Amino acid sequence: MRKLLILSQLVLVALMISCTTPQEFDTKVSLDYCLEQVTKSIGQTQYADSFPRNIDPGKKEWNYVGVKDWTSGFYPGVLWYAYEYTGNEEILKQAKKFTEPIKYIAFNKAYDHDIGFQVYCSFGNGYRLTGNKAYKEVMLAAADTLATLYNPHVGTIHSWPRKKEYSHNTIIDNMMNLELLFWASKNGGGQQLYQMAESHAEVTMKNIVRSDNAVYHVGDFDKETGEFIKGHTHQGYADESMWARGQTWGIYGFAIASRETGRKDFLETSKKLADHFLERMPEDGIPFWDFDDPRIPKAPKDASAAAIAACGMLELSNQVEERELAHKYKNAAETLLSTLSSDKYWSRETNNAILLHSTGNHPRNSEIDVPIIYADYYFMEALLRLKRMDEGEMMAYQ
Ligand code: GLY
Repeated sequence: MRKLLILSQLVLVALMISCTTPQEFDTKVSLDYCLEQVTKSIGQTQYADSFPRNIDPGKKEWNYVGVKDWTSGFYPGVLWYAYEYTGNEEILKQAKKFTEPIKYIAFNKAYDHDIGFQVYCSFGNGYRLTGNKAYKEVMLAAADTLATLYNPHVGTIHSWPRKKEYSHNTIIDNMMNLELLFWASKNGGGQQLYQMAESHAEVTMKNIVRSDNAVYHVGDFDKETGEFIKGHTHQGYADESMWARGQTWGIYGFAIASRETGRKDFLETSKKLADHFLERMPEDGIPFWDFDDPRIPKAPKDASAAAIAACGMLELSNQVEERELAHKYKNAAETLLSTLSSDKYWSRETNNAILLHSTGNHPRNSEIDVPIIYADYYFMEALLRLKRMDEGEMMAYQ
């Protein structure tokens, strides 16, 4: 009788897995591969105040940037994820070493909205995994620094104060930096940070999300009246085109805003951006850098957008109430991760990165079809989230 019970439980678990996981995809294989690649760069990356950002075609090693670069937090973030996966003490040492210099961002005048990327990916992961109180202080200071860019007339953060051609610009990427404000408001930073983040998401939803379910990259607002002036692009093909990474900042950013506020309109916004992204996805399952580049299918891909989308879809699948929808978004994330885990996208011996084929800033002819650190970061983030979700499902059925 007991054997029969155990057998039926095993069948149930197997059924659960087959319903939710494409048979051939195994997070462990992909995470082990990530670890191999990350370990390669540990020996190469000597100086903690410079951070891997991209790799030139034909080269194996990373190009480095300083702490002020918007991408500085991703390499320490990759190290924190590698530590989370392995518990390895040497990786922990490296993660701490590369996190420390980013403190500069928290305690100096805000340059732009990227403070969230820089500090939440480094100190945020560090605090989550170690509970180090000193990290918490840096994060609270960083949230206050980010809040200095908030304009109450518009109700959003001024994303790029240096760009004087706009009255007050707010970009879709900025949605990702609200997580730091939401976190700080729950950890002693004050209710005003929550209100700023909520207002920023609301104004973005009403003006930067378009009626065709794509997003503008940049919204220009009147800095005195708050009136929306016009939508623009900066890194996309055209103002009205669908820049792939912008769409995924929107999917993931609104899913986070929905999780933090419980607001259904933010959840619906994330869902409609995700559905539109999936509907327009090319057959091979990875977006071109911009869905409207007339050179498609010869246009370059953007693996980073696929990795960010996978994170957003997993977040969505945790939040939607309908079981079928939860499966839909989880399966979409798994398909993205499984496609990224293929010979075409894995760097392996080509270079020290995890993923090939990302596109940074096509209009400026910069970082086209190369490995970029944030693709690796969000790829690892999505794999770890998926692993936790699958383990949770297994536990629930044991
Ligand atoms: N935040 C700039 C980008 O997505 O390239």
